[in-house]
Amino acid sequence: MRIIIINGPNLNLLGKREPEIYGAASFEEYFKELKKLNQGLELSYFQSNIEGELVEAIQNADDNFDGIILNAAAYTHTSVALHDAIGAIGTPVIEVHISNIYKREEFRHKSIISSKCIGLIAGLGLRGYQLAIDYFNQN
Ligand code: DQA
Repeated sequence: MRIIIINGPNLNLLGKREPEIYGAASFEEYFKELKKLNQGLELSYFQSNIEGELVEAIQNADDNFDGIILNAAAYTHTSVALHDAIGAIGTPVIEVHISNIYKREEFRHKSIISSKCIGLIAGLGLRGYQLAIDYFNQN
């Protein structure tokens, strides 16, 4: 089973960025832990602050991965391009948010990409990524 985690803008700052919302660990640290916990799986990770690079990562994942875990960050709320990219591929996508977007500012309550994803995990911190891995692994 090959799974790729794709993180969007500002998630390269995890650990430094608003730690009261997003926690104190960097994603690189957490990704190392994920690799240790999921040794039977092929886990990859890609992060970009650039919308077009995220579109390309989703398109490229289609032939190369069995599942995509996508935290599109702020593009969740704005990007028709990401919505269309997810709709254009066959690989299933799980949407993950570290914070509970429905408990925050109103502009975060709308996800443009959810309708193209198989499911959504939000508000469970970094554990959301492991829960998404477990789902792919068991299905
Ligand atoms: C986020 C929530 C988004 O609203 C925000 O723009 C992010 C991170 C999350 O993981 O909680 O950058 O996707």
